[in-house]
Amino acid sequence: MTDPQVHEVAVLGAGTMGAGIAQVCAAAGLRVAIRDVAPEVLDKAIDSIGKSLEKLESKGKIGEGARAAALAAIRTTTDLAEAVGRADLVIEAVPERLDLKIATFRDLDRLAPAHAVLASNTSSLPVTEIAGAVARPGRVVGLHFFNPVPVMELIEIVRAMQTDDETVAAARAIAARLGKRSILVKDVPGFATSRLGVALAAEAIRMVESGVASPEDIDTAMKLGYRHPMGPLELTDLVGCDVRLAILDHLHREVGDQFRAPPLLRQMVRAGKLGRKTGEGFYKY
Ligand code: CAA
Repeated sequence: MTDPQVHEVAVLGAGTMGAGIAQVCAAAGLRVAIRDVAPEVLDKAIDSIGKSLEKLESKGKIGEGARAAALAAIRTTTDLAEAVGRADLVIEAVPERLDLKIATFRDLDRLAPAHAVLASNTSSLPVTEIAGAVARPGRVVGLHFFNPVPVMELIEIVRAMQTDDETVAAARAIAARLGKRSILVKDVPGFATSRLGVALAAEAIRMVESGVASPEDIDTAMKLGYRHPMGPLELTDLVGCDVRLAILDHLHREVGDQFRAPPLLRQMVRAGKLGRKTGEGFYKY
């Protein structure tokens, strides 16, 4: 399958990432089905897509009528078979649990058309193991998007051991169609982006723990000293402390001790201080 044949996309999971992915697909002229188990999560996703499109419209980044056209291209459903039955591309963005992803791909294998590319937006889990759950592993690939999806220019394409050349080519074409730059990485724990991202974040959190400087000053160091758009602690609050802890725990098991999670991060997650989404992380919102 090459990109011109992608007309319909199914996005599984309507959280922050699923909503953003659905939005950029619809804005690129594709028909999109978003599926989530919870109807209220679907409503929230449509609301956030509308707001994001409004922002882009008010800044002149999309033309008049583009917002309505993108919203009209999106349908929501709680029915997996309905969502994926006509899809040329499925992008899974369910919570970062390997068991859940594997179960989802098993279902997809039964329900999605034989030609469909089956992509996972996982930020660190093994795409090779996910591909092992289906009878067409060559069609499985990682398409790793970044938050906020409508703004961030990168898609990290993760090639599982089984991914075939045609699927990699399709992934590259899809990224271009969505207006993103792509990089291709092997399926190693944390890929390129998460591995580097959590390494910096974990060191910053250890510095907070040992009182080197305040979160504000550590973030300012990286923003002004290194021109990062956000400091590592602000970014941890944006991504979610729970998400970053899960990635660190996975890398600790797979790669080794340099990825041991700082105790402060684990305590914050236990206390429900997950970042922006709960109103408090390293900062209060
Ligand atoms: N939809 C549409 N537009 C949006 C938006 C959204 N959801 N969020 C921000 N924008 C736009 C703003 O309107 C603004 O547009 P202009 O430049 O035209 O004014 C622009 O993006 C910048 O936004 P702000 O002025 O509000 O704030 P900012 O300049 O601080 O930028 C930011 C915000 C884009 C988030 C920037 O701080 C940034 O790039 N931060 C780093 C984000 C990052 O590293 N993300 C990756 C996280 S890791 C990940 O996602 C992967 C994973 O697996 C966990």
